[in-house]
Amino acid sequence: MRDFKVAPSILSANFARLGDEVRRVLDAGADMVHFDVMDNHYVPNLTIGPVVCKALRDEGITADIDVHLMVKPVDNIVPAFAKAGASWITFHPEASEHVDRTLQLIRDNGCRAGLVFNPATPLDYLRYVLDKVDMVLIMSVNPGFGGQAFIPSALDKLREARSLIDASQRPIRLEIDGGIKTDNIRAAAEAGADTFVAGSAIFGVEDYQQVISEMRAELAK
Ligand code: DX5
Ligand code: ZN
Repeated sequence: MRDFKVAPSILSANFARLGDEVRRVLDAGADMVHFDVMDNHYVPNLTIGPVVCKALRDEGITADIDVHLMVKPVDNIVPAFAKAGASWITFHPEASEHVDRTLQLIRDNGCRAGLVFNPATPLDYLRYVLDKVDMVLIMSVNPGFGGQAFIPSALDKLREARSLIDASQRPIRLEIDGGIKTDNIRAAAEAGADTFVAGSAIFGVEDYQQVISEMRAELAK
């Protein structure tokens, strides 16, 4: 069995009590924190930046923080997130003028780097940069909002990404983001995902531990 990781998206958390929410979800069994950064330019919504990432570190959160940049341009915000304690930084190739350079910049700043593919974006960007990629993130919704419905064609894309990753023989994580729930997490795993972002499915219920264990039970089937 693959080393599966559950990454709750704090986009659906209660931002007025963010430190507590993150602690609660980690105590409930989450492996890492998915941190959605939106700029009201690349995507039509506005969220949080490096100061909030740093605030979580200052609160004593030591889990990996998986920063998903939905911003354009990308490069100027990378060093600030690295300094703020990001573990992973992923970005959308369409949002960077020089994808190879941005990947290198993320690594030079001490973080692990990833590329994010929107539902209509082909995986072509990966081919020549696989050696600089630590994570591939497949979007199963159009980026910008939590609580949207899973787009099934993401499963085909996961399968395609899984074969590219396996062929590369590199330890690249394959993450799926958007509309992940207890009833489709297993299909995403079967298609090749090993890291599962879930926002509304986790933060939308009272008992985080119950939903995370249900997800793990599905993954263990
Ligand atoms: C969407 C974000 C997702 C979102 C997922 O642009 O990248 O991480 O928070 O939320 P759910 O799980 O509710 O689809
Ligand atoms: Zn995300």
